[in-house]
Amino acid sequence: MKTILITGGAGFIGSHVVRLFVEKYPEYKIVNLDKLTYAGNLANLKDIENKPNYEFVKGDIIEGETILKLFEEKQFDGVIHLAAESHVDRSISNPTEFVFTNVIGTVNLLNAAKHIWKDTISEKKFYHISTDEVYGSLGEEGMFTEETRYDPHSPYSASKASSDHFVRAYHDTFGLPAIISNCSNNYGSYQFPEKLIPLFIHNIKNKKPLPVYGKGENIRDWLWVEDHAAAIDVIFHKGRIGETYNIGGFNEWKNIDLIRVICRVMDEKLGRPGGESEKLITFVKDRAGHDLRYAIDASKLKNELGWEPSLQFEEGIQKTIDWYLENKEWLNNVTSGDYQKYYEKQYVKR
Ligand code: NAD
Ligand code: TYD
Repeated sequence: MKTILITGGAGFIGSHVVRLFVEKYPEYKIVNLDKLTYAGNLANLKDIENKPNYEFVKGDIIEGETILKLFEEKQFDGVIHLAAESHVDRSISNPTEFVFTNVIGTVNLLNAAKHIWKDTISEKKFYHISTDEVYGSLGEEGMFTEETRYDPHSPYSASKASSDHFVRAYHDTFGLPAIISNCSNNYGSYQFPEKLIPLFIHNIKNKKPLPVYGKGENIRDWLWVEDHAAAIDVIFHKGRIGETYNIGGFNEWKNIDLIRVICRVMDEKLGRPGGESEKLITFVKDRAGHDLRYAIDASKLKNELGWEPSLQFEEGIQKTIDWYLENKEWLNNVTSGDYQKYYEKQYVKR
């Protein structure tokens, strides 16, 4: 049996990756290491938490000694590293936390892998999950390819860029078998309602203002989170060591247009008169250093490994809105803070 470490598995994307691997690969033991910050929620994994090939470990990647002991004890065959501070606005108010988790935390994992795997390193795999935001901002034309020069602007993207460089450095210097992927904006179930799509669904439902930064003209490429998890599966198993793969939805939206779609679909689903939710749109001060446009060219991944997004955006956004409307308890617990008691209830008393 192979033992795979997934870090940040209680978060948004991590929980989808953990679920996919636990269900698809009963021959693997999946260890989910997560600190359970505000963004970590074990209720995201309620449906698989009792599976025999799944184990949760509460731990902080900032603690190097703890990470080393975990690697020694579990003898991982591979690592999929998603744990991170992930929200740009929080990185603007508290950059240091992003350096600790995203940079030092990643280096601690790399050190543990290098140290514990030393004699068998060629049989192992360290897969680092990153973002398209490391490439900076585009004008009206062009797309990010794997060759695009790094040009991060926010403290979040600077910390992710730094972690990517460390992963490459450990590959080049110590022969660590590493792979990196850089993905565009994800949307779907279990996303913490601080990011645009779940925040706006939540606010529309509760008839609260929708704070649109600047004029809403910034452009993002949106990918359904389960398609990201499927890409991670393909890259982990078939990706070439030392390579970078871009992952994207081929699905660019200007924020204001996307917001209008969410308003329209929400009006339909909530039985409100057309145009009602759009009245909640409130233009607010722009985010500092706000990147204008991200667009990902994911053709390397498509041509080499055959991955493509499975879902069109109109279907994906319908599914996503349905999920947040149906999972009232999840949304209420997350917005009230009650979700943080789940760990105590399910794990500490066991
Ligand atoms: P998230 O904020 O939802 O989840 C992050 C998880 O990491 C949480 O469960 C949190 O508890 C855990 N964590 C944070 N600090 C930790 C620490 N010090 N030790 C251990 N665990 C810790 O993030 P997400 O949106 O699921 O993103 C996951 C990864 O994917 C991140 O590396 C992010 O940079 C990358 N990514 C995200 C997107 C996106 O659109 N959300 C796009 C591309 C790449
Ligand atoms: P976000 O979901 O925070 O992702 P990222 O900043 O990593 O792309 O934001 C997506 C876009 O939506 C981004 O251009 C900022 C904008 N935005 C708003 O206009 N209002 C909001 O309240 C939020 C959270 C984001």
